[in-house]
Amino acid sequence: MDLEISVAVTADTRAEARGPGSAPAALTVNGATYLIGVEPRVSLLDTLREHLDLTGTKKGCDQGTCGACTVWVDGRRVLSCLTLALACEGHDVTTIEGLADGEELHPMQKAFIKHDAFQCGYCTPGQIMSAVALVAEGNAGTDADIAEYMSGNICRCAAYPNIRAAIREVRDATA
Ligand code: FES
Ligand code: FES
Repeated sequence: MDLEISVAVTADTRAEARGPGSAPAALTVNGATYLIGVEPRVSLLDTLREHLDLTGTKKGCDQGTCGACTVWVDGRRVLSCLTLALACEGHDVTTIEGLADGEELHPMQKAFIKHDAFQCGYCTPGQIMSAVALVAEGNAGTDADIAEYMSGNICRCAAYPNIRAAIREVRDATA
């Protein structure tokens, strides 16, 4: 019984401290820490784009089906439209803006340009974040593997053959 009371008090206290209004948060994105106020219901995607002005990450469907919003949290791919910003406190978020080394583009960014792996470019940041991760994961062994592990990233321009060519090139260069 004592335990139940103590849990209820903790939950009440946390609810009061973290919303429903704007709550203070410290988010680490691309190596920089941002102190912001954000409502607990707000997604990482909206926080990146609207609070931090990091608009490289795109909003396609806003419901987890297109992959346009793909970023990394602690090096793992996540859909930022389905991730709450407050859940990322204490973790490292990486967006497409964090891939280049100064003016030097990441090899995957260069490969996408070389292989003409985008048309309108709207899906491209998410495609590149997934592509780099899947090569690092060792899931780019065959074209079938690449298609499977990139299947969460939809391209309405159907640049898929060129995207696979770019991924193959980076895979082979890092093998
Ligand atoms: S915007 Fe997140 S999956 Fe489409
Ligand atoms: S390049 Fe247009 S949606 Fe992929």
